[in-house]
Amino acid sequence: MDEAKENVNLHSLCGRKVLVTGAGRGIGRAVAIEFARAGCNIACVSRTQEEIDDVVSYVRSTTSAKAKAFPFDITRISEIPRLIEQVEQWMGGPIEILINNGGIARIEALECQIDMDHWQKVMTTNLTAPVALINQVLPNMLTRQYGTIISIGSRNAIYNIPFTSSYSVSKTGLLRFHHILEAETLGQGICNYYVQPGNIDTKILDVSNAIDANAMNHDGVIRAINILRGCPRNPVERVAEACAKLACGGHTVLSGSYVDLDQDTWGQIKSDNGSVSPIAEGGGLALEASNLPFK
Ligand SMILES: NC(=O)c1ccc[n+]([C@@H]2O[C@H](COP(=O)([O-])OP(=O)(O)OC[C@H]3O[C@@H](n4cnc5c(N)ncnc54)[C@H](OP(=O)(O)O)[C@@H]3O)[C@@H](O)[C@H]2O)c1
Repeated sequence: MDEAKENVNLHSLCGRKVLVTGAGRGIGRAVAIEFARAGCNIACVSRTQEEIDDVVSYVRSTTSAKAKAFPFDITRISEIPRLIEQVEQWMGGPIEILINNGGIARIEALECQIDMDHWQKVMTTNLTAPVALINQVLPNMLTRQYGTIISIGSRNAIYNIPFTSSYSVSKTGLLRFHHILEAETLGQGICNYYVQPGNIDTKILDVSNAIDANAMNHDGVIRAINILRGCPRNPVERVAEACAKLACGGHTVLSGSYVDLDQDTWGQIKSDNGSVSPIAEGGGLALEASNLPFK
């Protein structure tokens, strides 16, 4: 086996200490299970205790990995250091792989945004919390010259998709943070990836406040929701598999990049040949901004 193939062997993840936010359902659940199958120890974080308990039970009954539920609201930024301390105590060492997946969506119309509370909530959940988590685990990763940080991003970071202003701005901020993270940590053993998963069939649009009540009757918003709900879906397993393969270290050329699982990048990661080229930010889309309703 050549070196590149060896690098993407999932066995290389065995025993790694992994924290997944939003691990209770959707993409995070699939990612947590994929890393557990690869032999990682998994800390599952989200607010809904029953959901993370269920993931932990599933992991314990189907794999030999260690898993524990850490019920926590990631918007409680000042409590993140304590969360990391508790997770690392349980793991018996520093977190080696951080998956920033927990997030919320928001469909809204600018003309209906009469207060900034929801804007702030989206920013705190999708941008400030992942950044605070990264900042908290980074010093140990740098000391050990080893660590992988993956954030589940969105195409909204690079396309002008109307009626998604707070979500798009939060995801753009996180992408730029990954760029700077790469620039600051280059050559120090840290890999970071901003993964655009494509459309995945999850509950993200069903949760409370995902659609602004003030904009419910807005024609453009109604059409946008219908288009989003009708988009072709990628299987959630693709995101999980891509994250695990990136964490194996065979595609480090992608570190600091926007990794688009709607594009050829997925085929390259899947093929395991370790020769992935850096990708352009952009390209064909299942959901073109121009297909969305402008008033
Ligand atoms: N589904 C898609 O098509 C799609 C496309 C592009 C990007 N994404 C991104 O993928 C990620 C996962 O979304 P999903 O589609 O899997 O949605 P989902 O099914 O709604 O899952 C979101 C997860 O995040 C957790 N979460 C939300 N707010 C949290 C908070 N304050 N503290 C802790 N955990 C929190 C949720 O748990 P609790 O509510 O129990 O806390 C849940 O476990 C998000 O970052 C999203 O932006 C999704």
